Amino acid sequence: MHPIISPSILSADFARLGEDVERVLAAGADWIHFDVMDNHYVPNLSIGPLVCEALRKHGITAPIDVHLMVKPVDRIVPEFAAAGASGISFHPEASEHPHRTIRLIKSLGCQAGLVFNPGTPLDALDWLLEEIDLVLLMSVNPGFGGQAFIESTVRKIRAARERIDASGRSVRLQVDGGVKIDNIGRIARAGADTFVAGSAIFKSADYQQTIQAMRREIAGATII
Ligand code: DX5
Ligand code: ZN
Repeated sequence: MHPIISPSILSADFARLGEDVERVLAAGADWIHFDVMDNHYVPNLSIGPLVCEALRKHGITAPIDVHLMVKPVDRIVPEFAAAGASGISFHPEASEHPHRTIRLIKSLGCQAGLVFNPGTPLDALDWLLEEIDLVLLMSVNPGFGGQAFIESTVRKIRAARERIDASGRSVRLQVDGGVKIDNIGRIARAGADTFVAGSAIFKSADYQQTIQAMRREIAGATII
């Protein structure tokens, strides 16, 4: 699967969000990662469907990859689908009925993703992998941008890669948290194909140079 770079707008300039998102897309980003935090499931509060809708109204046509860090999940899903989300990912432990939540997301025409925290085993994939489009492995504890990559994620990427390959389905393997130019190669080599990076891109002086450097590292890793 071709690599996807999905900058997390949590580190963007919220006072000039539309403009900043246009800039990062012009610099070569594939998707826009949209982090939704509720001050309940995670200890931070971010943005909701109104902001997603505003980006669409501003003219953003790139896929918007919504990462829900909220509890409960189901009530907010239709609002994000209506606001223009392309994919919606959620943490299975935040939903009473994850299978039902996946079916709800799919029924609204969005891609569905399941998210695993650093301390959460991949067991939910036993019965749900065949239903989803994306597996998202958190390489930091969710809630904040700018945290350090947790090394055990590399082993988990390999384990998730094996499960996805064994399923024979085309499911994306995304990694989120502490992804930088200097570790993205290792992350790709372990089997990830979709990369979220917030501070590494939005806090860099030149978005295009950073994204290009990330792509070079990914390409170098996947040739080996
Ligand atoms: C953390 C979020 C991430 C975060 C990543 O809860 O899900 O998407 O913005 O930020 P960096 O890349 O700075 O770790
Ligand atoms: Zn995220």
